[in-house]
Formats: sequence, C-alpha cells, structure tokens
Amino acid sequence: MSHSAEPKPMTAHRSGALKGDAAVPGDKSISHRALILGALAVGETKITGLLEGEDVIDTAKAMRAFGAKVERTGEGAWTVNGVGVGGFAEPEGVIDCGNSGTGVRLIMGAMATTPITATFTGDASLSRRPMGRVTDPVALFGAEISAREGGLLPVTIKGAVDPVPVRYTTPVASAQIKSAVLFAGLNAPGETVVIEKEATRDHTERMFAGFGATIRTEVTDEGHVITLTGRPELKGQTVAVPRDPSSAAFPVAAALIVPGSEIRVPGVSRNPTRDGLYVTLLEMGADITFENTREEGGEPVADLVVRHSKLKGVSVPAERAASMIDEFPILSVVACFAEGATVMNGVAELRVKESDRIDAMAVGLRANGASVDETRDSMTVHGTGSLKGGACAVTHLDHRIAMSFLVAGLASDQPISVDDGAPIMTSFPVFLPLMSALGAKIEG
Ligand code: S3P
Repeated sequence: MSHSAEPKPMTAHRSGALKGDAAVPGDKSISHRALILGALAVGETKITGLLEGEDVIDTAKAMRAFGAKVERTGEGAWTVNGVGVGGFAEPEGVIDCGNSGTGVRLIMGAMATTPITATFTGDASLSRRPMGRVTDPVALFGAEISAREGGLLPVTIKGAVDPVPVRYTTPVASAQIKSAVLFAGLNAPGETVVIEKEATRDHTERMFAGFGATIRTEVTDEGHVITLTGRPELKGQTVAVPRDPSSAAFPVAAALIVPGSEIRVPGVSRNPTRDGLYVTLLEMGADITFENTREEGGEPVADLVVRHSKLKGVSVPAERAASMIDEFPILSVVACFAEGATVMNGVAELRVKESDRIDAMAVGLRANGASVDETRDSMTVHGTGSLKGGACAVTHLDHRIAMSFLVAGLASDQPISVDDGAPIMTSFPVFLPLMSALGAKIEG
C-alpha cells in the first residue's frame, strides 16, 4: 500500500509526438461503489473492468472483513457474494482504507446503521483529511462516533441499533458525503433524503437503482433532492465499469501539450456529472472528438480522439467545479501551455483532497517557471504556451499531483521530477507502461 511504500522518485523528459491507444483503467468511484453494493446485495454480483488500484483493493479487503465473499476471477473481473442490507458482520481487525477518502467515507456510511462496531484508519494523507463531514450526518441515524481530535482518523463507529431515517443538506458539494448518507439510509426504515445545492457525481444514485433500490432525484428551489426508500432488497447484479475520465485526463492532457500527438482513449465515461474538464478543454480550443457514444453499465461512454492543440486560457465557473474536482491539478498543467490566464473558481475543496492540491500545484509549477496566483478558493495560471521545467515537485502522497507533474515534464524545456510517484498505484497502476507505450519518456 502506498502509505507503507518506499518513496519512488520519477522523472519525465520532453518527448516526441504521442501516438496510439490509451486504454485507461476502470473508474475509481464506480469500482468502490460496485464492491460495497455487491457486499450489501443478496446473491452474486459480477464486476468487469474493476480498477485494480490500491484504493479499490483496500475496499475489497474491507468488504471481506464485513463478511462478504469477494473474489478475483480474472483481470479486472471480480465476484462479490453479499450479505444483504443490514447483514454486515463485525470486523475482527481495524479497517485500513490506505489513501482512499472515498473508500473510508462510503464504508463508514454503509456500516453505521448496522449494530456492529468498526474502527477505521488510513495512511498519513488520509489521517489528515476531515471525517466529521461524514461522521456528523451518520450520527444523526443513531450511530455513536469517536474520533481523534479534529474529527480525524482513527474513527470508531458503533452502528445504530434502531436507526432512524435522516434528511440532510450537504454543507459542501461532495459526492462522498452524499453517498455516505445514502449508504447509511439503506438500513434505516422510511425515507432518507439528501439535499445538495450543486449536483455532484451521481454514480451512487444510478447504481442503487440498478441494484433494485427505490431512489429518485428532484430538482427544486432547495437544489437536488435525492430520496431513498430504506430497507430495499438489493439483488446481485452484473456491473461493467467504464474507463475513468479522471485517469483519462492524464494521457488526454499529454496529447494536447506534446506537439504532433494524436491518441485515442476508448470507452471513457461521459457522465455529465464528471465531464467538466472536457467541457473546459473544448472551450480552451482543444481538438477532442467524441466517437461512438453509447451506454455501458448504465453510464454514457465514448471513444475520445485527441490531437495536439493550440490552447487559450479560460475562466472556469465555480458551478462547474464539482464536475471536474479531481481534474484541476492536470488542468493547471495544461493552462501553462495555453496562451493567457486560466482562472479556476470555487475550488476550496481542493485543499482537503489527498493533499492541499492548490498549494501543491502552485508551489511545484512556480518552481518549474510558471506564474501562478492563489486565493483560498481559486487558482490562476498565467499561461505562456510553454514551461521551463528543471525542478522536482513534492507530491505529498497524492497520485494526481504526481501524474500532473510527470505529464508537464513531457512538454517542458527541461525535465520535471517528482519526489514520490508511488501513490500513482492507488488509482492508475498502469500509468507508466501506458504512457511509455504512447511514446512518453518517463523514468522511475
Ligand atoms: C469521489 C468524490 C469526490 C472526488 C473523489 C471521488 C467519489 O470527492 O474528489 O476522488 O467517488 O464520490 P468529494 O465528493 O468529497 O468532492
């Protein structure tokens, strides 16, 4: 796991045109949800295209600890034999979610309305991230919480014996908070309601419906109102996980900034709640075409064809932030290679991701010659069409910071290094071979 791995320095060098197919791994958000829902369903769930990154493997192990039978049957192919809603057994040991905020928060929700006790922990990065945003609403169902000062991991949850349904308005736009409440709501009688002012990724709602739950979303003056009927009988399903648009963002960005490139990224999710980066890149003048648009596993997908492009800076509206929340680090790299300022608004949540991503990108990009301004909730990159490079960026146990700087180094004048590329294994284990096959010069 990344939290115990030795640091792995890596260096990216200016590369020739990138060419070929980039079949990125399965979607991380959907992979976590498929395992957890499979564990809560009755009967067998067959998953294909599961992301076999450390984050998701930690969730698979956790589901075993709660009593589900989870087996790998082939590359990306897994089966889960679930215990039914309310059927989680008390785990014997501590649940270590490694680097994964999604894993720990969704699982805390999923067990909080079952009368068992579990303790959750994680690596140094996860142990700095706020958990009160999930334990507070989960306590409303009747669960008892104890956490380290500041609401940090380790957290112990004593699940509610007689859970009550909850009506909860999320204080920040977060699919993790929404999903934790909905997972808790599965074993509460009556209707659990989550209200979010800005729509966030809706994989939980789609997959709950796919497994047989009654769940509906209405857009009202309050915002998006999601209503779940508790105690459904979930039935095992077949889940085909589409490729991850957040992982696709790295080869896509590389192709846009390395002259002469043309790549194809097949089968990427185009879920509108995940599409903000692609909308933004098109506004910047990116040459991206979406071919063969279709539906797979309840999600819209397309094949992307991406060519090197002359880009201009744009202002990204705050309302778009949730739909591209994990893509701002790589957008800030692309912005260096555009002409003019790219302003990213409403991005305060970046400060509580695997690292403070505004700070990590601003410091690393400045060291490599870029001009970057930041406020608490915005970042502005003054693009010049090129980047000097030559410096080492600190990745703070954050996979997306590591991959962003390595992509930057493919088009910068001098090489760019990262102090630690080991966290890339959490979300994109084949990053290095995949990028190398396109022609990227990355060593490490
Ligand atoms: C995720 C939601 C996002 C995102 C994370 C995955 C999910 O977090 O950053 O990588 O799977 O629900 P927030 O919902 O907290 O913004």
